[in-house]
Amino acid sequence: MNFKKFEHRLFGRTRGRSKKKINIKSYLNLTEKFIIKKLKNNEEYILDIGSGYGETSTYLSNKFPNKLIISCEKYIDGNLNLYRNIESLKLKNLRIYPGNVNNILDQNIKSQYFSLVFIFFPDPWPKRRHWKRRLINVEFLKKIHTYLKKGAEIHIATDSISYSRQIFQVLFETKNLYKFINQNEIYLGIKDYYNIETKYYKKAIISGRNPILYILRKL
Ligand SMILES: C[S@@+](CC[C@H](N)C(=O)[O-])C[C@H]1O[C@@H](n2cnc3c(N)ncnc32)[C@H](O)[C@@H]1O
Repeated sequence: MNFKKFEHRLFGRTRGRSKKKINIKSYLNLTEKFIIKKLKNNEEYILDIGSGYGETSTYLSNKFPNKLIISCEKYIDGNLNLYRNIESLKLKNLRIYPGNVNNILDQNIKSQYFSLVFIFFPDPWPKRRHWKRRLINVEFLKKIHTYLKKGAEIHIATDSISYSRQIFQVLFETKNLYKFINQNEIYLGIKDYYNIETKYYKKAIISGRNPILYILRKL
């Protein structure tokens, strides 16, 4: 697998902070076993973008046994954890794309593949000069719209106040493309919808931040 040929740059960590050595050959072999590159027109996929340690992908795989889940993540330690889950829990409907989501989109013809897209705790990039690295912007929501099936949903979770403000602005600017379906609900908390505790969910709770879930439906 040639990671260099990927077009879109992806900022952030590829390895964890621990000094624990990993066997890169075995990582690449496992990646080859579970990788997906080519999407099929007649298939219905669920896309999990930035799956970290894979908690959301494992959850989605169990919740939707008849759909194919694509876990999109370049973080090696996280993917290794997911591979262990795939094997120990015998998850048959989970595939991995080990890179930037923009690459898998660009490498496939524009078609309506996804019925659900999960984006749990996208990197917040708190420094203003890094905001342009954020995944959720008007350009990205316009782009992924083309790949969504009719009525498909995007579920975005964040605990960053400044990212939340940006997402509100982006939703306003894309209101002809998506309906923000839980905007009138009293609660926007993840636990009102899901019983998933990802690493970043736990970090937010420990730090006293209340994560918000945005549910968007393709118009
Ligand atoms: C803050 S972590 C959240 C991980 C996990 N979803 C959770 O809730 O614990 C964000 C993850 O998104 C991944 N990521 C960021 N931009 C991405 C992109 N464009 N395509 C795929 N993954 C991306 C990063 O590698 C990182 O592991």
